[in-house]
Amino acid sequence: MTILTSELEKHFTMELVSLLRAAGDLAWARGWNLYLVGGAVRDLFLARPNLDLDLVLEGDAIALARKLAENRGGEVVAHPRFGTAKFRQQRISLDLATARSESYARPGALPVVSPGTIGEDLLRRDFSVNALAVHLDPIHFGALLDPYGGRDDLERGLIRVLHEKSFSDDPTRILRALRYEQRLGFHLEQNTEQLMRRDAAVMDEVSGERLWHELELILKEECPERVLSRADELGVLQNIHPSLRGNGWVRNRFEQARKAAKPSPALYLALLAYRLSEEENEDLLARLRIRGEIAKVMCQTIKLKQVASDLTTPRLAPSAIYHLVQRYSPESILATALASDSRLVRQRLKLYLTELRHIRPALSGDDLQSMGISPGKKLGQVLCALLDARLDGKVQTREQEEDLARRLLG
Ligand code: CTP
Repeated sequence: MTILTSELEKHFTMELVSLLRAAGDLAWARGWNLYLVGGAVRDLFLARPNLDLDLVLEGDAIALARKLAENRGGEVVAHPRFGTAKFRQQRISLDLATARSESYARPGALPVVSPGTIGEDLLRRDFSVNALAVHLDPIHFGALLDPYGGRDDLERGLIRVLHEKSFSDDPTRILRALRYEQRLGFHLEQNTEQLMRRDAAVMDEVSGERLWHELELILKEECPERVLSRADELGVLQNIHPSLRGNGWVRNRFEQARKAAKPSPALYLALLAYRLSEEENEDLLARLRIRGEIAKVMCQTIKLKQVASDLTTPRLAPSAIYHLVQRYSPESILATALASDSRLVRQRLKLYLTELRHIRPALSGDDLQSMGISPGKKLGQVLCALLDARLDGKVQTREQEEDLARRLLG
């Protein structure tokens, strides 16, 4: 039997190990077994930091979380519908769940859940490397539970499903597999890859929300383009939208995006969808059920792509650049500045983002009123002319603006 006590003590803080022991003791006193499971155990072997700890209990998870908070301090948010609880104590966060088994009524549907043993709970999981558990009870504390060869797969660098129907039960695992593969520098095990190719079409059955959730997780990875390129290679990306490509163009643009800023998922998605038509983009948004701010960035980017040809006009005044793009959000302008194939367009959009958009005239509407201009259309026109003059470097001081305003008023 593999005992991981010293690994736990090396990997986690003393406080956290002591809390895990306390939780294991409290569970044991009630006749329940408690385990550390999933990603935290995987990352323990890989020596990668992971602050999201999942605990599984053969017993009442909410009751245990409350007892732990009572004894050791901390806060609990319970979700009675799911039999789960989040325990928080300063920087520590533990997700507690009751061990369960799952069955799927049809491919892509949400599972039907019932209480189960730790063995059943590990069997319902996605990949062998995530189906590891560590005993936390006082008798077996630190003992590894590895019924599906997860540790061997960690050593061999393999992502392997636990059974034939894993991808068809839950097609979001197709994207998860590629995310782990690229994050950890692993490979899909041969049979897993075949099953993925076989079941990729079942992704059509998954709801847009779930699909977007997985795609968003990919876009939050350190190098999402690697996952997208692999998804393209395996024909998986095309199951999200037939026109999506994760090739060299995307790789290059994502890398540029990281050099420019810390890209948000919205920015990455706008780059991924940049080469789609307006209609294809609408289809993609509908498929992923994306609304709100992210949809706005995507739609504006596609629109801006269409007007970007106006930005290639030679000798365009800064004020003209300003008025061409000013109605678009900074994120969609950044996406276009990164994605456009024209160097001139890229330069002009960057000029807008870094300088032009911050420029304001020194004189305000109130200043103009105190110069005798009454509120109305004329005042608006003068303000606009002052801004243009500032943008084009024709005025630099407040006095010059006052002169210009007087001249404009004749
Ligand atoms: N899981 C699963 N199938 C899914 C989602 C999750 O089997 N579709 C299981 C896996 O065992 C996973 C655990 O639930 O380890 C927790 O899920 P999640 O928090 O998404 O993954 P982590 O392994 O913690 O990985 P990450 O580092 O990406 O957060």
